[in-house]
Amino acid sequence: MNVMITGGAGYIGSHAVKILLERGYNVSVIDNLSTGYMDSVDKRAIFHNIDIRDKDLVVNVLKSDHIGAVIHFAAFSLVGESMQVPLKYYDNNVYGTKVLLDAMNEAGVKHIVFSSSAAVYGDRSTMPITEEVLEVPTSAYGETKLAMEKMMKWADIAHGIKYIALRYFNVAGAYQTGEIGESHNPETHLIPLILQVPLGKREHISIFGNDYDTPDGTCIRDYIHIEDLIEAHILAMHKIIETNKSDIFNLGSGEGYSVLEMIESARKVTKQPIKSIISERRAGDPARLIASSEKAEKELKWVKKYNDVSSIISSAWKFHQLHKDGFKNEN
Ligand code: UFG
Repeated sequence: MNVMITGGAGYIGSHAVKILLERGYNVSVIDNLSTGYMDSVDKRAIFHNIDIRDKDLVVNVLKSDHIGAVIHFAAFSLVGESMQVPLKYYDNNVYGTKVLLDAMNEAGVKHIVFSSSAAVYGDRSTMPITEEVLEVPTSAYGETKLAMEKMMKWADIAHGIKYIALRYFNVAGAYQTGEIGESHNPETHLIPLILQVPLGKREHISIFGNDYDTPDGTCIRDYIHIEDLIEAHILAMHKIIETNKSDIFNLGSGEGYSVLEMIESARKVTKQPIKSIISERRAGDPARLIASSEKAEKELKWVKKYNDVSSIISSAWKFHQLHKDGFKNEN
């Protein structure tokens, strides 16, 4: 089958590209390289340097590459930035998805797997979070992801475009060979920032608050390995094609780890001391986010391969040692 991956040059998208190619799918990538890297895109994919907001170009790709399904990652994803420049997020994420759905409708492509986020839930007290929990996003980023989901619901009702929205918790780790991994500029995510210390690129890791209502006072998150995450996308794609039904699934591990536990695990993996200091809370961080992924396990028959954070951190460490400066674009 021919699959179009939007945002295929980004962290999550580039892993989807590689894993789908390994499984024998033909992959077309569209990416405007605004935050992604050409070096992370597997050379076997057909690459189109275009923006999802350019409908005619997207329609051309859908038609000329005979696309059967779309996996949609292209979006801005920094919670903090979304609070400073929300309209930038509405333009790329919400308007971009609107144009993509228009293009799919015009080209007659009716299946889409969509990268949503735990950010749609906001700061909930019920743990673990199931798909039934009311969505109350606390950031512009989370609002745009929820708006994208709602738009898909109406595009399904009106145009029969079937979607599966996958709400990710904390995606981490790297492809087993270390060829590709997480490379953001600027980097804001915990694991790559911790690993910058043993790489000699940062003197210490800052712990954003140790006075939360958690056992050690630091925030708890649910970390899910990138390869397990992509596996769920493949299962979701087949589920839509088989059942012709839209749905929503959480993707997490069901286990929570505190910032302190993550740093300790990274010390063991890297065998280096990793200096940490306590700093101020980061605005908008919920104390605890843990997913229930029972629905995905049951209905998608999703089975995770990476069940402990040390294997997730080990894979990230392999990537970062091979790519000390991450990926860079020439321009
Ligand atoms: N943290 C630190 N120090 C750092 C960086 C992060 O203590 O230098 C802490 C954060 O405060 C948080 C935890 O580490 O408690 C994880 O932070 P990340 O930035 O790695 O991830 P978030 O949980 O903030 O964000 C993730 C996804 C977002 C998504 C969000 C949903 O990366 O895309 O979950 O709430 F929107």
